[in-house]
Amino acid sequence: MANKFLVAASAIVLGSVALTGCGNSGSSGSKSGGTITMGFAQVGAESGWRTANTKSIQETAKKDGIKLKFSDAQQKQENQIKAIRSYIQQKVDVIAFSPVVETGWDAVLQEAKRAHIPVILTDRAVDSKDTSLYKTFLGSDFVKEGQKAGQWLLDNASTSDVNGDGKINVVEIEGTTGAAPAIDRKKGFEDTIASDSKIKVIASQTGDFTRDGGKQVMEAFLKSQKGIDVLFAHNDDEGLGAIEAIKAAGLTPGKDIKIITIDATHDGMTALSQGEINYIVECNPLLGPQLMDLAKKVVDGKSVPQRVVTEETAFDQAQATAALPTRQY
Ligand code: AHR
Repeated sequence: MANKFLVAASAIVLGSVALTGCGNSGSSGSKSGGTITMGFAQVGAESGWRTANTKSIQETAKKDGIKLKFSDAQQKQENQIKAIRSYIQQKVDVIAFSPVVETGWDAVLQEAKRAHIPVILTDRAVDSKDTSLYKTFLGSDFVKEGQKAGQWLLDNASTSDVNGDGKINVVEIEGTTGAAPAIDRKKGFEDTIASDSKIKVIASQTGDFTRDGGKQVMEAFLKSQKGIDVLFAHNDDEGLGAIEAIKAAGLTPGKDIKIITIDATHDGMTALSQGEINYIVECNPLLGPQLMDLAKKVVDGKSVPQRVVTEETAFDQAQATAALPTRQY
């Protein structure tokens, strides 16, 4: 009876959030005396990066014998909060999530803390002053990614004034408004290019990290902006959508407009190797193995570092061509 009530309550609380159990029968998760249950609240399925990230988490949980309760928030914070509350009700051993946006998490994280359920942030950070609300944050240094993109433009300024007017006009397609990677990549990029007064961001708008978003924003930029030399897109998907818009306008991506993106997914790297993108900064989505290791330690009460930064590189055309045959995502 009690169990039936819990199932019904969870169904109401979850609303439109899609939950799929991904557990397996193995019992090698390291909780003393039993299998670990992890509740994972994913951002959505907005990009190739996200698809690879979800796959890595689901496959590693299965391999490590961790029972995974997985939800897709469809890029909506309220769905993630509902999913986290449902994991608290279900008394999972550990909650992990990749916050859609940075702010607005304190209340639900305090509920998890009161229920003695440890929380791990993965991929994206929260903007909370109370760092006791989570055990660790595993993910990329997004500011550094933006800096690398900006540094490439500084190093290649002499060939990036495509219109030859002495100025380098940059348009920027940002990630989801309020998301850590959108805020940090913008900051890293814009702070870096500030050292060359010829380089200016003339327009900047969100593409929500999606291909459709990138295409629509680029179509609008091509109509409203004159003399675009460079596009900085906050992820590959936005860049690939923008490439469609650039081609439809009769221009050649990579030549008439230089393109810098972030992620280095298979599709992005293919476009780079074909010369349609000029530079990609890597953002590694394969976080499953490190996440499951941290989860086992946290559940066993072992200490973990407060911040675990993912190692990443960057690619030009030749490097992308060399890396593509063995690229995992
Ligand atoms: O948080 C990581 C970012 O989110 C990736 O760069 C992007 O592709 C994804 O949607």
